[in-house]
Amino acid sequence: MCQGFVPFELSTIGGPWGRRLAPRRAWIDELPWDEALPSSPEARHVWTTTAFSEYASAAAFAEVAAAMLACGAPIDLVAAAGDFVVDEIVHTELAARVAAAFGGAVTLEVDLGKLVRPAVAADPLLAAAEIVVRTSCVGEALTVPILKLSRRLAGSSLVDAALAAVVADEASHAQLGWWFLDWADHRLDDAARVHLGRVAGAAVRAFAPLLAVSSCSPSGLGTLACDDYDPAFVAAAERSVARPLAARGIVVPAADLAAVGASPPGATAMSGG
Ligand SMILES: [Fe+2]
Ligand SMILES: [Fe+2]
Repeated sequence: MCQGFVPFELSTIGGPWGRRLAPRRAWIDELPWDEALPSSPEARHVWTTTAFSEYASAAAFAEVAAAMLACGAPIDLVAAAGDFVVDEIVHTELAARVAAAFGGAVTLEVDLGKLVRPAVAADPLLAAAEIVVRTSCVGEALTVPILKLSRRLAGSSLVDAALAAVVADEASHAQLGWWFLDWADHRLDDAARVHLGRVAGAAVRAFAPLLAVSSCSPSGLGTLACDDYDPAFVAAAERSVARPLAARGIVVPAADLAAVGASPPGATAMSGG
């Protein structure tokens, strides 16, 4: 049973299952693994926790796919969600290998029974929207600009190439959420939108420390210092989450945005996006 805290470990079984996955993960072998990397405890830590975050993202997209099936979502959207599980598994392997390249993964105790918070809504469409908002519209949408910044400050061709590949996938993982909400739009009443705004607000608060795994380390090799991370997170919460949700009638509570230092849409003079 998957219950309680266990050491975070990965294994493969190979055979036909390894061959099936091979085309999706082949690019990992092409990365510049021969780069002479500095010894960095921070990089070992951040890439180990990244491997686990990617593993949790795989679980989240498995839930997204199941929830979309349960509410009759368009089948191409469901297929994309299922396919994203594979993306996240490949990202998991990538991150674990980068951690190994920096000297080995650190020990991590994880609860595999609590990878995804269940939806609270009973209605299948609203339950799916909840999981989609948390996963794509908040988690993935916040991840993209953070990873882009991490890439700019990487200072390593291996880390640069790894992050470039991952960020391209995460961008489409975020897009899935907006497409789902637009499809569901005419079936979401005002109460549902208020509920989804609260779900998004709680998720923004929850992701702030999760994405900051490396805070207070110097930036580089996949880690971000607080001085780099904090303003990037605030900008991402405003531009990549609150603003596109507001455009769909879903308002992230101002208190949740303020808790991470962000302003609600319309309360800021910031342009762009
Ligand atoms: Fe990922
Ligand atoms: Fe992702």
